[in-house]
Amino acid sequence: MANERQFKLKTTFVSTRGVAEYRQTITTWVHPNDVVLEIGCEWGTTTVLIAPYCREVIGTDLSLDCIKKARQKHPHIRFEVLDAYDLRTAMSFNKSFSKIYVDVSGLSGYRSLLDVIALLNMYAPIFNPEAIIVKSGALKNFATRCVAWQSVQTEQA
Ligand SMILES: C[S@@+](CC[C@H](N)C(=O)[O-])C[C@H]1O[C@@H](n2cnc3c(N)ncnc32)[C@H](O)[C@@H]1O
Repeated sequence: MANERQFKLKTTFVSTRGVAEYRQTITTWVHPNDVVLEIGCEWGTTTVLIAPYCREVIGTDLSLDCIKKARQKHPHIRFEVLDAYDLRTAMSFNKSFSKIYVDVSGLSGYRSLLDVIALLNMYAPIFNPEAIIVKSGALKNFATRCVAWQSVQTEQA
């Protein structure tokens, strides 16, 4: 059942607010064996920061202009056009991404919370990454208010 699969996910969702926090996570979350996907790389500034810490990284963006510029600026890194919501293309890269970075414009505002959660729930079951690190103030605010209730065993009469 789809829901059962979702409950068994091992993916940790790391929510950050602002680009400084988003980049701060790299030294904690990216490791030498990681294959990393960045969704919403613009000109590749964060992708390049991730690269020295992992085995492989692909920077992606919806905008072909951004990807052209990223390739020009950083010819040693792989950049591809990808719409975040186009999972089929993400899967066509044929990689087992162990970490996914998400910085898609418009995902920070309060009204975008459901879109962010939908996006995370699309990528987590398909790639089963250890972590998805997302730049979204809305998700960070929501996450800091959430507590997962630990079920208590009750005695049956
Ligand atoms: C804030 S910029 C990313 C900055 C970059 N991550 C960095 O750290 O330098 C947001 C990017 O999201 C891209 N974007 C917007 N909608 C997208 C979508 N549906 N799929 C992929 N990228 C998208 C925009 O083209 C833009 O380049």
